[in-house]
Amino acid sequence: MKWPLLSTIVLFGCSNALLRFPCAQLVVDRLDPLVTPGQVPSPHLHQIVGGNSFNASMDPAKDMPGESTCTTCQFSEDFSNYWTAVLYFKARNGTYKRVPQIPNSGFNGVNAGMTIYYMQDGLYDFQQTSKVTAFKPGFRMFIGDVNARTPEEVARFRQLTYTCLQSIDTRDPQITDFPNQPCPAGIMTALRFPTCWDGKNLDSPDHMQHMAYPESGTFETKGPCPATHPVRMGQLFYEVVWDTRQFNNKADWPADGSQPFVWSFGDTTGYGNHADYVFGWKDDALQRALDSPCYINCATLKTQDTAAMNKCSKSKTVSEPIDGWLTTLPGGMTAES
Ligand SMILES: *[C@@H]1O[C@H](CO)[C@@H](O)[C@H](O)[C@H]1NC(C)=O
Ligand SMILES: *[C@@H]1O[C@H](CO)[C@@H](O)[C@H](O)[C@H]1NC(C)=O
Repeated sequence: MKWPLLSTIVLFGCSNALLRFPCAQLVVDRLDPLVTPGQVPSPHLHQIVGGNSFNASMDPAKDMPGESTCTTCQFSEDFSNYWTAVLYFKARNGTYKRVPQIPNSGFNGVNAGMTIYYMQDGLYDFQQTSKVTAFKPGFRMFIGDVNARTPEEVARFRQLTYTCLQSIDTRDPQITDFPNQPCPAGIMTALRFPTCWDGKNLDSPDHMQHMAYPESGTFETKGPCPATHPVRMGQLFYEVVWDTRQFNNKADWPADGSQPFVWSFGDTTGYGNHADYVFGWKDDALQRALDSPCYINCATLKTQDTAAMNKCSKSKTVSEPIDGWLTTLPGGMTAES
């Protein structure tokens, strides 16, 4: 399935109505304050970026920006946390190695992490005729289904994709499962969240029901929001670049022709791709930015340099090996067959 290609627009530079910025790695840890708050360790490993107040509990009633003393994001008023699962390679001898992350196009020098976008309007809406609303303090959401293992199960999430990178600038085609051939420049995962809010709830039991997709089309094509979720929000999306290059020798791939990558929760299909978000912009910084179209150079936002982003980090809470050749995935899980 193919979706309108935001990234192409970015790379060819004809849009200015979006925030696109890198966030360096904060920590890789087995915590999940959204899905399993307070639980140490959480079931599977995550890679997390953003404010350093991130911890296992993240009480929604707490003022997160106020608790953070630094952020790994380029926009230094953004103390939100963004996270995804972690990719591993499974060798023929059954051991696992974590796949490193590399900076996206244009962000050389940033330590791992991911690229965050907040779309301010539809792709071709350069006059910004329809304003979008920023998330509010306490807002959180999740997208995807860790248990999805088939195309049918992932189909209700419209925009969770993989791109097999021929170069760091490749954006198409986008597919919903792991590429079945070695990718010369790595694998990009793109995780786009729904964009219509119910206008009331900052969260919901499954962390998704308070949000919905447009009734038809996508955010980018300006599909209308359903009556149940009438508030049109900026579109949040993550791009993560997994540097699979050291694992590209076909002789190291499974003899049965399957692909060797596995998510930290055991999924070898790729359909279980998911992402988490906890809002934490300071004051009205995000709304100010959404109200004044900008791209990278956003006059209304404060920025910090790459060294400052990379310097902000946090030590792991859960003490366990996550690197080197491991006999199981962190948490004792193994690749599903
Ligand atoms: C998370 O941090 C808050 C303070 O910011 C603290 O009160 C709480 O105990 C911490 N929770 C965990 C599980 O570390
Ligand atoms: C398993 O395979 C990997 C990759 O080929 C290799 O580096 C590692 O040493 C092997 N481990 C064992 C215990 O044989």
